[in-house]
Amino acid sequence: MDNLSFKQHWEKIYETKNHQEVGWYQQKPMVSLSFFEELNVPLDTNIIDIGGGESYLVDNLAQMGYKHISVLDIATKAIEKAKARFKESGQNIHWIVSDVLEFSVSNKYNVWHDRAAFHFLLEEKDIQKYVEHAKNALKENGLLFVGTFSENGPGKCSGLPVRKYAIDELKQVFSPYFEPIKCFNIDHFTPSDNVQNYTFCTFRKKH
Ligand SMILES: C[S@@+](CC[C@H](N)C(=O)[O-])C[C@H]1O[C@@H](n2cnc3c(N)ncnc32)[C@H](O)[C@@H]1O
Repeated sequence: MDNLSFKQHWEKIYETKNHQEVGWYQQKPMVSLSFFEELNVPLDTNIIDIGGGESYLVDNLAQMGYKHISVLDIATKAIEKAKARFKESGQNIHWIVSDVLEFSVSNKYNVWHDRAAFHFLLEEKDIQKYVEHAKNALKENGLLFVGTFSENGPGKCSGLPVRKYAIDELKQVFSPYFEPIKCFNIDHFTPSDNVQNYTFCTFRKKH
């Protein structure tokens, strides 16, 4: 699939489905939130959610008191929908419409969060580019939290093929620049009660 069709796919998803109709929907993304709690991520941390879509992670983080949150997604419609939720609140979220591989980093981050966006990269060169990009975007000791479908998870997400990762594979891909802190597998239950097994890893940027 070329880049334009890939973007169009996502625009259509967010134009035609509401958030409870998509498999990845979570009102409270507990796995991601527990990462912030377990590592005592400070409230003045600079966070970016890659492929955040309409995710409620940003709402939860803002409620917890995080002040510097950016959300990046390839789909303009996803960003518009998420942004609309913040219209009245006055909270200052930085919204970015971009392909993660094309995103030019002007600001360095302490935390790079990605749940179910990285796994759409299928070609080795794009995977390498993503890892380099995350390394360049993160400050010293920056934290990277990534979630993909596991080796036991589905082969497709949103109708598109994904690359599935076992824990060791995910560690291997990020190993040039990142050391693992914690990795685990967990089942996600979609709104229609299908089970999707995920691999999650937290990494720290190497010196
Ligand atoms: C399966 S959804 C997950 C959404 C959100 N992270 C969550 O967990 O609820 C994947 C999201 O990643 C976005 N995405 C996929 N590939 C991307 C890319 N190369 N650059 C930026 N966003 C991307 C899609 O538009 C979509 O919003």
